[in-house]
Amino acid sequence: MSKYIINGPCRSFGGKVNISGSKNAALPVMAAALLSEDESVLYNVPRLSDTAAMAKIIESLGCGIYRDGKGAVHISASVRRPKKSLDYYLFSRLRASILIMAPCLARFGRTRIPMPGGCKIGARPIDLHLKGFAAMGAKIKQGHGFVEAAAKNGLKGAKIYLDFPSVGATENIMTAACLADGVTTVENAAGEPEIEDLAEFLNGMGAKIEGAGSDTLVITGVPRLHGGSHRIMSDRIEAGTFLTCAAGLGAQLRAENLEVGCLKPLLAKLTEMGLEFETGRDYIELKPCARPAAVDIKTLPYPGFPTDLQAQTMALLTTCDGNGMVVETLFENRFSHIPELCRMGAEIKTEGNAAFIEGVKRLTGAEVKATDLRAGAALVAAALKADGMSVIHDIEHIERGYENFPEKLRSLGGDITAVD
Ligand code: EPZ
Repeated sequence: MSKYIINGPCRSFGGKVNISGSKNAALPVMAAALLSEDESVLYNVPRLSDTAAMAKIIESLGCGIYRDGKGAVHISASVRRPKKSLDYYLFSRLRASILIMAPCLARFGRTRIPMPGGCKIGARPIDLHLKGFAAMGAKIKQGHGFVEAAAKNGLKGAKIYLDFPSVGATENIMTAACLADGVTTVENAAGEPEIEDLAEFLNGMGAKIEGAGSDTLVITGVPRLHGGSHRIMSDRIEAGTFLTCAAGLGAQLRAENLEVGCLKPLLAKLTEMGLEFETGRDYIELKPCARPAAVDIKTLPYPGFPTDLQAQTMALLTTCDGNGMVVETLFENRFSHIPELCRMGAEIKTEGNAAFIEGVKRLTGAEVKATDLRAGAALVAAALKADGMSVIHDIEHIERGYENFPEKLRSLGGDITAVD
């Protein structure tokens, strides 16, 4: 399927939506399962093109992976050493392919992978990952589109300070340190909930990780890890996507099967906009609100406002009452949804990493294109509230990170069809 056709405005949107497992928790956990030659079993792994690509990467290393009849994913890396010839295209499809380095380096003493890819939202260097591996004794080489790390005598515990609380670098270093000889501390570590989920999985395999979720990790290396069993946390970004979409439609929505605490940064902003909701153990119910008030947003590392909800919240701001400002501090090129939103009648001006949004009464349907995962989701939300038909091209970006997206939106009343 390459495009969505959406007819708006949707005046009967609302109801219940079940939130799937988190893409950004599942991908690092799938990679980390390679730390043990025993089988690991993962539950609540979302069916996405990104998790399918990670499965293919794991298979290309010569490891076993399959989804059983109940949907659980079984991974076993009983190989003596991973296959060397790796598929450039496969690795270049997603950023998370870089997370394969940690288990291969820690278990086999070396890893050489094609440089990672992923959403074109910035340069996305990997220097912090490599600095961490080097601090633990690995020799790093880069060239010909590949990156290599080798530690023939194994990794050693080290003191690491991250120049920036990078999510991926924290995950890669934490994973590799589990099998290092000695204690590794990581300061200025990322504290996203997905890091805690990964640490819970690794500790379930026999790792000794303390401080996950804070800015300081202490990992005491162990000689080997046994297989793990883990339920992937819910996708807080999918939940936030549905909540901002419903808010833009003035609709009620009950998002179920989620960790409410992870959404505090978004809920604080929605409250500031005059929106009301009820929260329970594992659900958030948004009350209808005809026209929320505009606010200012600044993206920051967790627990600041998540950059992965920036585009969706901007789509909401396009029809709010008043003017809003969005400052993107994490990525240098994460405004590609703006020209597409303007094609739909949004009033948005940019100055560097700041966008100024003047709330308009209505958007109008148009032909637009998804440029990355979250930008695409923002366009879907805009199209559902716009007058008339919209066509959203290049929806493969969206299908990387949203399980059954059109089906879930249709069940809530959205008029959306995926076509070739
Ligand atoms: C993860 O990407 C997520 N992806 C991203 O979600 C998310 O936007 C990002 O974290 C921030 O929360 C996955 O988990 C698969 P970073 P990651 O390393 O790890 C710089 C989505 O939409 N940096 O925290 O790549 C980097 O350039 C995706 O689901 C370095 O300078 O993010 C960026 O400016 C998009 N050197 C900042 O840190 C490095 O070695 C944050 O990047 C690494 C990162």
